[in-house]
Amino acid sequence: MSLFDNLVRYGMPLVPKPIVGRVARRYVAGETLEDAVRTIRSMNDQGAMATVDVLGEEVRDSELVRAAVDEYLEVLDRLEAEGLDANVSIKPTMLGLKIEESLCADAVMAIVARAAELGNFVRIDMEDHTCTDATLRIYRRVREEHPGAVGVVLQSYLRRTSTDLNDLLPLKPNIRICKGIYREPRSMAWKDFETIRANFVYNMEKILDHGGYAGIATHDTFLVWAGMSAVDRRRLDRESYEFQMLLGVDPELRRIILSEGHRLRVYVPYGRDWYPYSIRRLRENPTVAHHVIRAMVGVSS
Ligand code: FDA
Repeated sequence: MSLFDNLVRYGMPLVPKPIVGRVARRYVAGETLEDAVRTIRSMNDQGAMATVDVLGEEVRDSELVRAAVDEYLEVLDRLEAEGLDANVSIKPTMLGLKIEESLCADAVMAIVARAAELGNFVRIDMEDHTCTDATLRIYRRVREEHPGAVGVVLQSYLRRTSTDLNDLLPLKPNIRICKGIYREPRSMAWKDFETIRANFVYNMEKILDHGGYAGIATHDTFLVWAGMSAVDRRRLDRESYEFQMLLGVDPELRRIILSEGHRLRVYVPYGRDWYPYSIRRLRENPTVAHHVIRAMVGVSS
């Protein structure tokens, strides 16, 4: 990233919200479930599966937790009714993790129970390191009741990830492995690019070697290659892993992965609370300054 891109990246909270909205449109399906359904159908038509994220995080009011659960139940029913190839991804802090762990666990259980009834699946996203222990506890608890209907995420930038994975391996878990997106202190997280990559590969291979299911979530072509070669070396069938990518990021890579016969799932966020998610995505965009400036001078991005 150029110095200028970095300046814009860190100055992002100063960029007016309507400009952020314009530039971030590609990362979000829209504000409504209708918008999400349209995007998922288009992904399915292109041969990709989807996972739906209702945008929202850091909820501090238990009424809003109930509303979030209801919305996810509606999403699951709608996916079933429309015959779409999609599951859901949930964020523990949207489901009350910062209010009370047991409230969050009950909320996750309710969503996973409905998914299990419908033969669908729920991925528990991983947030910053203050959430890791509680998220893994909730995953284990819910998994005991509904083993095939829930999975979790591990982040290769966290130093603790290999240990967390070792503890989970006897369960043959379903794990999305990703680099990690939150700003973490050096005491908790690897900071250099190559170490994070190496830790991604190390943990991905461990999941595959122990009969787990790997969601290989990356747009880094080196890691996509590492995933493809890892499944090839092990002669794994295409049902025992999937690639995962975010909506709006590198559609050409998405087509390449699909054309080589792998399964791929696109993360499709929707909802009114799009701002924090969009800021995180824009910070990762290597040409963010270019897009922000074009939007500011009124050129469509
Ligand atoms: P990297 O950041 O190196 O990107 C590789 C290349 O992709 C870049 O060079 C660039 O070309 C392109 N690219 C990446 N981001 C872009 C963007 N926003 N706009 C344009 N181009 C972009 N994290 C987390 O902490 N908890 C979670 O639960 C999840 N869940 C999750 C689900 C899925 C399906 C994906 C794909 C990712 C996540 N993440 C996540 C995010 C993840 O941790 C990570 O931050 C991003 O995937 C970026 O890392 P890459 O591996 O893509 O590499």
